[in-house]
Amino acid sequence: MSRKLIAGNWKMNGGLAANEALVRSMLDGLSGPACGIALCAPAPYLSQLQGLLQGSPIDWGAQDVSAHEQGAFTGEVSAAMLRDFGCRYAIVGHSERRQYHGETDETVAAKAQRALAAGITPIVCVGETLQQREAGETEMVVKRQLAAVIHTVGHCISEIVVAYEPVWAIGTGKTATPEQAQQVHAVLRAQLAAATTNPKRVHILYGGSMNAANAASLLAQADIDGGLIGGASLKAPDFLQIIAACA
Ligand code: 13P
Repeated sequence: MSRKLIAGNWKMNGGLAANEALVRSMLDGLSGPACGIALCAPAPYLSQLQGLLQGSPIDWGAQDVSAHEQGAFTGEVSAAMLRDFGCRYAIVGHSERRQYHGETDETVAAKAQRALAAGITPIVCVGETLQQREAGETEMVVKRQLAAVIHTVGHCISEIVVAYEPVWAIGTGKTATPEQAQQVHAVLRAQLAAATTNPKRVHILYGGSMNAANAASLLAQADIDGGLIGGASLKAPDFLQIIAACA
């Protein structure tokens, strides 16, 4: 496996002044990071990130991308538009989009395909709800979610990033234990291995209340290749400590 990847998902937070201060303190605190780093901002701030991060070790990405190529889709942002600015990543299928915006496995797969076609790496999120975990459905749910993407993108599956984000752990302060997370990551790795000859090339990130205190033990697991960080990516010292835990 190549270097780990730590990606921040700011969700619908930030503002011009706050973003600049946050990014500057992150850049000031970085010293030869041992991992890949990315920040995913709300769409209006992507060109701000492009400017602030130019020439730095931090890449940037969007939090969503349209499933359509172009045309009459008011409010949507296409993969080609993101690519125009040099966007590297796009989160697709975050549970908040599945839950509040009715995104289906098929929509998520179409979005992943649009991103790939434009040269953007989709960060495909999968994860079970608490109810599904308690019903013993975790494995079935994450496999179904990933299978839709494999089905649609075919051999390009080795070009994606997967993020396992148990819904019950997102923004709740409840983290999956390293063992619980590793168990699901191993399932996802096996599923990728059946679809590509290079399953180790795919980063499988863990997301859900990852923070400065628990990052090291999660990142020490064999199949945890990085993190997708919500709340802690809004605080430079916390985000920097998670990055440092990759060393
Ligand atoms: P938190 O780190 O705030 O739990 O959010 C995780 C997440 O949803 C990242 O995409």
